[in-house]
Amino acid sequence: MARFHPLPVAAVDRLTDDSVALTLTVPPELREEYRHAPGQHLALRRRIDGTEIRRTYSICSPAPDPAGEGPESLRVGVRLVEGGAFSAYALKEINIGDELDVMTPAGRFTLEPAPGLYAAVVGGSGITPVLSIVATLLAREPSARFCLIRSDRTAASTMFLEEVADLKDRYPERLQLVTVLSREEQQAGLPSGRLDRERLTGLLPALLPVERVAGWFLCGPYGLVQGAERALRELGVDRARMHQEIFHVDAGSAPAASASAPAHSTVTARLDGRGGTWPVREGESLLETVLRNRPDAPYACKGGVCGTCRAFLVAGEVRMDRNFALETEETEAGYVLACQSHPLTERVELDFDR
Ligand code: FES
Repeated sequence: MARFHPLPVAAVDRLTDDSVALTLTVPPELREEYRHAPGQHLALRRRIDGTEIRRTYSICSPAPDPAGEGPESLRVGVRLVEGGAFSAYALKEINIGDELDVMTPAGRFTLEPAPGLYAAVVGGSGITPVLSIVATLLAREPSARFCLIRSDRTAASTMFLEEVADLKDRYPERLQLVTVLSREEQQAGLPSGRLDRERLTGLLPALLPVERVAGWFLCGPYGLVQGAERALRELGVDRARMHQEIFHVDAGSAPAASASAPAHSTVTARLDGRGGTWPVREGESLLETVLRNRPDAPYACKGGVCGTCRAFLVAGEVRMDRNFALETEETEAGYVLACQSHPLTERVELDFDR
């Protein structure tokens, strides 16, 4: 069950003009709760003028060894988003010693370290979870290899440049690093330009044996992740080997309510071992109904991106506005995103504990 705890800020490191890395100290009694897999994220929350806002940020520090203690500290990368209430605060106001309200780790964009070849295509701040994945994998699995293909606008705007260079120095044989800058000529290597589907379809087979990659990690803006997924499908990669995490999806327009939606419906939800049944107000998502009655319901982005509000649909049917978080296997198994779900039957039952 996701919980929030106040964690002190131990360091604020400026990465680029528009991004910082925040290091948070985890006290000994909470280390087990903050044990995380490489690739997971943390939701941070803050109240502004009486309104609670939450944002998720990926953990960039390596995951703790399963046989040892939970992490002593956690590091997250924050990039300034235009009009972003939390990111502007993180960049301009957070200081060492401040306490932040931090949710326990969540997310399924993760890698269970195992021998083999892995690869990632990342854009912009999409490097953040992949940095943790690469560092954890290469440290734990001496025979594993990783091909990291990253794109950014310019070298100056590239997050974690030094950290990635350090990994390359530490594992020169096992980490293949390819950087593509869209707005800057590079001294050596690849020509500049965007990493789109067409380019990746030509580039990937030239870089690595695509068919031997055990897991692909695609992370960044929606367009890049979609383009990479299409390129991999064209190259014959099985969908089950692809993991995706999308950052920055525009709010967009939600589809109009389905004509078959019932006039009145109720949602029954089980959360942290306790259940309740409540009427769903017109137009609201199931998460909103549950939150009015159970403020401890888990959520972070409310935009169908982070997956924190995942619940098992025990009974009834729902319509999801959008889903950028759940894998096909999860939706087929019966999981939904509560923040995107609207009832299609008079009775809907969700289980947040499954
Ligand atoms: S709260 Fe992020 S997907 Fe629902």
